[in-house]
Amino acid sequence: MKTTLNGKNIVIGVCGGIAAYKSVTLLRLLKKQDAHVRVIMTLNAGAFVGPLTFEALSGMKVCTSLFAENGEDASIKHIEWAQSADAVIIAPTTANMIAKLAAGIADDALSTFLLAVTAPVMLCPSMNTHMFEHQTVKRNLKTLKQDGYHILAPDAGELACGVTGPGRLPEPEIILDRFLACLTPKDLSGRKILVTSGPTQEAIDPVRFISNPSSGKMGQAIARAAEMRGADVTLISGPTSLTEPLNIKMIKVNTALEMHQAVWHHFEHTDIIIKAAAVSDYRPVNPKHRKIKKVQDETVLELQKNPDILKELGKNKGGRILVGFAAETEDLQKNAAMKLAQKNLDLIVGNLIGPDDSGFNADTNRVQFLYKDGTIETLHKMSKDAVAHLLLDRILQLTISS
Ligand code: CTP
Repeated sequence: MKTTLNGKNIVIGVCGGIAAYKSVTLLRLLKKQDAHVRVIMTLNAGAFVGPLTFEALSGMKVCTSLFAENGEDASIKHIEWAQSADAVIIAPTTANMIAKLAAGIADDALSTFLLAVTAPVMLCPSMNTHMFEHQTVKRNLKTLKQDGYHILAPDAGELACGVTGPGRLPEPEIILDRFLACLTPKDLSGRKILVTSGPTQEAIDPVRFISNPSSGKMGQAIARAAEMRGADVTLISGPTSLTEPLNIKMIKVNTALEMHQAVWHHFEHTDIIIKAAAVSDYRPVNPKHRKIKKVQDETVLELQKNPDILKELGKNKGGRILVGFAAETEDLQKNAAMKLAQKNLDLIVGNLIGPDDSGFNADTNRVQFLYKDGTIETLHKMSKDAVAHLLLDRILQLTISS
């Protein structure tokens, strides 16, 4: 099931670190997800980013103190906020806040609030590398992990202080992605899922190839959704311009033959295979090693068939759940049903190609789910993320009923 932040009460805690500015973008990203966001800052955080910035962007008063502010009684605000919070992110989390939380110290608004929170909390440690690697910080983080806090590992690189190593606050997009992941129920935990995605490219010569406009968005949406739901995901992807998904083993291929080999290499250790890739059906018989020159007025390109990876999988699937996609410009249902039967699939996603809001490169999709018992489910237009989660819901049902 897709986790949404729509209407959720999220509290961002900001500690005093050079990375505090990234929390401004994080706040904007959370607002874009239609969350109600409130901010609690430590006194030191105010030295890096002023509360007014957070107030203007959240449309809510920022809490900086346990005591009366502007004539307002703040003494119980932290308790109210703690009770109404659906989830909390502390970004950046300093070594000081980590130590206070591990010891149960409540001596300012944020640390007091944190002791009263019962909702999930994600800590985003960010500090100098030597501080991060200090025994005490390591010990405190271990304690907090055991206590049930979600801890986002810092990025490594050159830090503001000039030291190179772990300690940098990850980019806001990554914080949001991991925040969603830690809020998502792990209903696919223990499942090994193989997803193929993107196009393949079949070389004609060193500067030309046969391919298709697949962006890899649908396959990556499935891989990301499965990872968030706790699955062990391997993604075999043709060339795409998308950023690599987090926490997923990604194998990059170019050609159908390379995809074929990679799929069979991983086949043994998978429970569920989802073939969203747009595989080229043919490849040039004789790819040239040098650029073909335009000396002839007409030329013929001789092609040979690529292996149908999905069909081969269907013949050997054993107890695995096998899911295919059918990219169709017409007769969607008829063609998808034919492929479902011919390739011995459990489910096929009929995917309408043509309209701007569906298929290749779109962020949304129009699909039908066809099951081997003849059932057909027609979905309305929705985001590829939403399609991915619904598909995984259905696959989960199939694993339970099979
Ligand atoms: N597929 C595959 N290997 C191929 C071709 C397709 O594994 N050589 C898989 C795709 O990943 C997809 C499904 O088969 O899951 C259907 O692909 P599609 O391109 O829609 O259909 P084809 O089987 O190639 O048939 P056609 O091109 O004639 O429509």
